[in-house]
Amino acid sequence: MSVECFVTGGSGFVGQHLVARLTATGHKTWVLMRSPENIERLKEQVGRLGGNPAHIHAVEGDISKEGLGLSEVDRHYVASASVIFHLAAQFCWGLTMERARTVNVQGALNVARLAANQRIRLVMVGGFMLQNLSHLASIGVDHQHPENTHWPAVYGRVGGYEGSKLESHFEVIRYMHEAGADYTIVHPATVCGHSESGHIVEGQPMAELIRNLAQGRFKAIPGSASHWLPLVSVDYLVTLITRVAFDPAMANRQVLALYKHTPNLQGMLTQMAQTLEVKPPRHHVSIRLLRWLLKIPGLATRFSISAESLNFIQTQRFDMSGTECLERKYQLTHPDMARTLEKTVRYVKGSLIT
Ligand SMILES: NC(=O)c1ccc[n+]([C@@H]2O[C@H](COP(=O)([O-])OP(=O)(O)OC[C@H]3O[C@@H](n4cnc5c(N)ncnc54)[C@H](OP(=O)(O)O)[C@@H]3O)[C@@H](O)[C@H]2O)c1
Repeated sequence: MSVECFVTGGSGFVGQHLVARLTATGHKTWVLMRSPENIERLKEQVGRLGGNPAHIHAVEGDISKEGLGLSEVDRHYVASASVIFHLAAQFCWGLTMERARTVNVQGALNVARLAANQRIRLVMVGGFMLQNLSHLASIGVDHQHPENTHWPAVYGRVGGYEGSKLESHFEVIRYMHEAGADYTIVHPATVCGHSESGHIVEGQPMAELIRNLAQGRFKAIPGSASHWLPLVSVDYLVTLITRVAFDPAMANRQVLALYKHTPNLQGMLTQMAQTLEVKPPRHHVSIRLLRWLLKIPGLATRFSISAESLNFIQTQRFDMSGTECLERKYQLTHPDMARTLEKTVRYVKGSLIT
């Protein structure tokens, strides 16, 4: 059955793959674009990713504006959608709290309001750190009573991007409960490339990590042998997003999209270094020391690493039983992740490193 969908963040990495999947399966898809003149480029890209460009339509808007800044006509189009997929975010390090809140928190609330007013299911993409309860507690987030959280202090500890992703999650849930509206949240691990093509885009944390390794900037392995950076392939992720979106049983539920057998960081770097034909780093450096070193002027730029990115390297393992239950229901499995990682590295080496 094909329905109409509305996607924010459709021009981004995950969004392109989601729009490709939705349109390939016959769904007419409205994409919110800050620069709708880029629609032809997006259509070409979605076509390359296996989607059907004929099913894509742009509506001009910006999530940070009230009502997303939609025109009367576009609001009418969006009202015909059965699901709103909210992926748009200012996804970078070094954001001020004000900027991060405007786009990632107020923007998410603007999207939630639209979904609630039109009684459309909201499918929102969060992040795996929201399922790391010991981490949340350690940075001062009261996940059971988020209203008790002192958010400026949290932003001060983890930076604008992560702080705003955490705050927006709790704010949207609170709003949707009050409005009596449906939501589903998918929390991805760090997203690596497509399992067949390795496709990933410039600026993605995974692409930057590969570039740093290729260019010899990785002098040591952050953390200990227990530290890891959980991964998920973009194709598994969009399959999971589309399955939960149309599953009535997923109303007001959350799911973690993460490959639990991702090797530790050392294993991952070693595997990537083999594909890149460079020497992998062998010694560990504690994250605490690394954070301190990164405060030395110029060092973060020289090694092209932000202290904010270190928050995602953790020792926490996750309870995947909820996801595994859904995987059985949807007959969904992760692709071969060693191969996916290799393809991603080859893609970055061939297309993004000059
Ligand atoms: N990639 C990961 O590793 C990862 C991991 C966990 C969670 N996530 C989450 O997954 C979602 C998608 O991530 P991604 O990697 O695909 O991000 P991305 O490639 O950086 O794309 C971000 C998208 O958001 C749009 N956007 C930014 N500000 C906007 C605004 N004010 N109004 C409307 N659109 C705006 C961008 O549109 P323009 O084309 O106009 O810039 C772009 O389409 C995000 O919510 C992110 O937090 C990602």
